[in-house]
Amino acid sequence: MTSILTIPKPDDWHLHLRDGAMLEGVIEYSAKDFGRAIIMPNLVPPIVTGDQAKAYNDRILAALPKGSSFEPLMTLYLTETTNPDDVEQAAKSGLVKALKLYPAGATTNSESGVRNFDNALPVLERMAKIGVPLCVHGEVTTADVDIFDREAVFIETVLDPLRKRVPGLRVVMEHVTTKDGVDYVKAHDKDLGATITTHHLIINRNHILVGGIKPHYYCLPVAKRESHRLALRDAVTSGDARFFLGTDSAPHPTDLKENACGCAGCFTSINTMPLLAHVFEEDGKLENLEKFASQNGSTFYGLPINSETLTLIKGHEAMKFPNEIQTGAGPVTVFDPGFDINWRVEA
Ligand code: NCD
Ligand code: ZN
Repeated sequence: MTSILTIPKPDDWHLHLRDGAMLEGVIEYSAKDFGRAIIMPNLVPPIVTGDQAKAYNDRILAALPKGSSFEPLMTLYLTETTNPDDVEQAAKSGLVKALKLYPAGATTNSESGVRNFDNALPVLERMAKIGVPLCVHGEVTTADVDIFDREAVFIETVLDPLRKRVPGLRVVMEHVTTKDGVDYVKAHDKDLGATITTHHLIINRNHILVGGIKPHYYCLPVAKRESHRLALRDAVTSGDARFFLGTDSAPHPTDLKENACGCAGCFTSINTMPLLAHVFEEDGKLENLEKFASQNGSTFYGLPINSETLTLIKGHEAMKFPNEIQTGAGPVTVFDPGFDINWRVEA
């Protein structure tokens, strides 16, 4: 049977585009299937000021394929010395849509992140006042907390106290990977949303560790046990307005993943939409893909839904994705779901 699904063009509310040759090599895939994306600021050095965000925005626009209408939505990397006035100016100009909180040491390029939240309070209070959301990498980083528990401990010991300390602060819990995260979002209606990645809907921790270590399934937050994956699937396929797509597509050259100290990140921008169509169809909720990928995030950010559309087609034959894409920064391995995908994006 052939099926066709047309939805408003999706947006990606959490994307790593990198810079230079890697940016040039990966951007076409986001530009093809997505209208807009929230661009992560974890470059080296990170994007911390409005001026740096403007310059990065210009580099992204320059790297876009000719005629593309893809719109990068810029973020600033929150540090303990971020200037509230600079944030306000960058937000009011329309350039910056959110700030990103990385607890120091949590993930790739997070060394400049926040260690002492007291020092970030002035900027967080200003963000609450002017309505700029904080996108949160929700993991504690202390060595005594098991890596599989880091999200749940963060919610209890950092996120919830922070939200109480800064009332009105709008928060996006990014790449939620646990039932604890899903339950926290569901229990709090006000000022809270969450992104969920494509790969966390498909893999659990066995995919990384059983039968040999699989570096291309290693990302942060690390995939958890199956019961958590099922909670994520339920949250997104239900159409609940608090959950929206953030692929967290995070390209690294293949040799830096297949390494004694492999980098964290899955590259999914090239096949996310076919994968999501498969997931939603498998759960009998294809009609809710549009909410997760095209509507809920726009509503949270107060932006219009894209007027362009994207059509997904399910055919008889499995779609063939490349194992790798070639970039000027080296080959990047494409996320492999481990099963056939019969959906494709209409050319
Ligand atoms: C991201 C990266 O490589 O920048 N990696 C990842 O595993 N998701 C950083 C992040 O979002 O944690
Ligand atoms: Zn990320």
